[in-house]
Amino acid sequence: MQSSNASSRETFSGRGAFILAAIGSAVGLGNIWRFPYVTYDNGGGAFIIPYLVALLTAGIPLLFLDYAMGHKYRGSAPLAFRRFNKSFETFGWWQVLINVIIGIYYAVILGWAACYTYYSLNSAWGADPASFFFKEYLQMADGVSVGFDFVGTVTGPLIAVWVAVLAILALGVQKGIGKSSALFMPLLTIMFVVLVITALFLPGAEKGLNALFTPNWEKLKEPSVWIAAYGQIFFSLSICFGIMITYASYLKKKTDLTGSGLVVGFANSSFELLAGIGVFAALGFMAAAAGKEVSEVATSGIGLAFIAFPAIIDQAPFGSAIGVLFFGSLLFAGITSLVSVLEVIIAAVQDKLQLGRVKSTLVVGIPMAIISIALFGTTTGLPVLDVLDKFVNSFGIVAVAFFSIVAIAFSKKLSILSEHINQTSSYKLGAIWRIVVGIVTPIVLGYMLFSEVYKVINEG
Ligand code: PHE
Repeated sequence: MQSSNASSRETFSGRGAFILAAIGSAVGLGNIWRFPYVTYDNGGGAFIIPYLVALLTAGIPLLFLDYAMGHKYRGSAPLAFRRFNKSFETFGWWQVLINVIIGIYYAVILGWAACYTYYSLNSAWGADPASFFFKEYLQMADGVSVGFDFVGTVTGPLIAVWVAVLAILALGVQKGIGKSSALFMPLLTIMFVVLVITALFLPGAEKGLNALFTPNWEKLKEPSVWIAAYGQIFFSLSICFGIMITYASYLKKKTDLTGSGLVVGFANSSFELLAGIGVFAALGFMAAAAGKEVSEVATSGIGLAFIAFPAIIDQAPFGSAIGVLFFGSLLFAGITSLVSVLEVIIAAVQDKLQLGRVKSTLVVGIPMAIISIALFGTTTGLPVLDVLDKFVNSFGIVAVAFFSIVAIAFSKKLSILSEHINQTSSYKLGAIWRIVVGIVTPIVLGYMLFSEVYKVINEG
């Protein structure tokens, strides 16, 4: 069993394994069901500008910051922060807490996706996917779940998801995280490319693509559009969550960090673009089939996956195949992200309590699985998920990102981090990186945080 002190810290087998695991974390539900709608809703084709600005002025530079923290200080988020500055450990635990919350509900959605992969085979949702999802599947009435069937179709798959991800994590960095990403990522890519090509051949696809890409330049004047771009980049690249710190701490000493980061960022954005094309081609088909406008059917999140897609699957040629590819992609993309979320917590516990890999996986995994199953496999379901999602997205992440980056910038040690990166990397970081991380991102994040707080105060 590996212990957690610096000399025997686990490592990825190589740079390729790390890159696949980092892409595995980045590519998740955010790419498939969030990006397409965020783009559509924020100026369509014009959104590319704030998106690229956010990627270049926050996404990639902060990815490098996370890598530098993890790789130089060789620790889970709390340990890396503590080694950077004794009083910064709290930031790491704050990130750990966010991952606890995300992990509890991310698993639930993957359980649903697993079940719906199977349902796709015979369109088990019948003629009314919305009522099927809420009433029959989640057994909800008036917003609360009233049914409880313990090993039924909600709880059974949820238990299976937990068992699978905890098994991967118990196997460790190389045999678990590395190998599973090396299996799932190529599989996901093939499935997803086939899905997108199939969607492009559906009648009406061009309607969807026009709706997605037609630029609305006026939108660029709205600050909320820019905030949406930064929000998407943060969530999508999994930065400031402690994830990239943790994964980078498993890299061998001589690793090209900036080169790896560019590959990860590029791959993640390509995947989002692909998802936008596939999802809107399918929505275009749905609109055309119903004689509606795309604006009437465009949605994201749970509504897109569990209500719109079943309707598309019902009507499309090769519907079952589209369903299996779509829900299977959600599941594979999500598993590698969930693994990364849980690894942040497991690594932190391992470093703090000096436990072995299997023990810390169980100490973290079992209580979380129980909470997740108790909350979502049985009683309240959806409303809790909504609240958690809002809380984490609007507050948790932006706040911890803002405070930790301001603290790092104020400690005047950014140059230590860039020097560390430059020792082994192909692209060197200089003054521009320090200005972006030390000045630009705190301003943007401060503004985001301010507008979230303002919204909450005004909306009560
Ligand atoms: N990056 C993942 C996605 O795009 C989501 C995620 C965010 C995963 C934060 C873990 C932590 O879906």
